Amino acid sequence: MQHVLSVLDIQDQIRDILKQAQIFKEGPGGDEPLKGKTLAMVFEKSSTRTRISFEVAMYQLGGFPLYLSTSDLQLGRGEIIEDTARAMTRYVDGVMIRAREHQDVVKFSNHSRVPVINGLTNLEHPCQALADMLTILERKGTFDLKMVYVGDGNNVVNSLLLATALLGMDFTVACPSGYEPDPEILKEALKIAENTGSNLKVTHQVREAVMDAEVLYTDVWVSMGDEEEATQRLKDLQAYQINSDLLKLADPGAMVLHCLPAIRDQEITEEVLNGPQSAVWDQAENRLHVQKALLYLLLGD
Ligand code: CP
Ligand code: NVA
Repeated sequence: MQHVLSVLDIQDQIRDILKQAQIFKEGPGGDEPLKGKTLAMVFEKSSTRTRISFEVAMYQLGGFPLYLSTSDLQLGRGEIIEDTARAMTRYVDGVMIRAREHQDVVKFSNHSRVPVINGLTNLEHPCQALADMLTILERKGTFDLKMVYVGDGNNVVNSLLLATALLGMDFTVACPSGYEPDPEILKEALKIAENTGSNLKVTHQVREAVMDAEVLYTDVWVSMGDEEEATQRLKDLQAYQINSDLLKLADPGAMVLHCLPAIRDQEITEEVLNGPQSAVWDQAENRLHVQKALLYLLLGD
């Protein structure tokens, strides 16, 4: 049984998952490879894309998704994670969890009888990274390019560091001091990069970083759970906005990605978000296709 809590958990399968996602995206779908299978989707935080894409993916593969908010589960009244995992995984074939604390998902998986998928924690967002890689492959046809992330070195960035390292892509994170990605994940990514040839960097010099970038990426300045620090974050991250001026420094054919939701005039301007270089809506759609591939891999016979 395989859990996918981190991009590291699919390091040997990432290319196959992307290939299968392209097949699902192109093909008619037809048969129902997950007929009779159920997926519990546990949400401790809000979601638009993750919830809808997982729910629709299960339906389209012939399976059944159950949406479970932690506030409706006994978890919200004090039942411990271990007992929730022991009971829940007697009923279902897989569990997707969006949680505040990554360690809670690890704890759940340690007591689960079925595969567990990380649908975002404070540490990682592996399903998002898969959709991002598919979007880059579709538009550019290769991973032999340079991506620059501008903004907060958060959960999305941590997963992107691992995905780019595995796929041999060059990746620079431009963030203010104090907003760097997780040091352990960076160390792990650098180790992988030694073998794949990917050039990974973290810098505070945003304008220098974006020179010749072929992919520009950003995410919100205030992630779910960071709301108390909002005022300070908005101040600290101000110089790390993707706007037309910054975009001009990148490669003329550069594509812009954002995992969404976007907060206009904070991390990105409307002009760029919905401009000709933006691929964000394809990127959002691709959540569906990569998750179908992931569910097929984990829950298929
Ligand atoms: N990108 C992403 O995970 O979006 P949601 O928070 O809407 O699920
Ligand atoms: N970094 C953001 C991503 C949302 C999809 C958050 O954790 O809120």
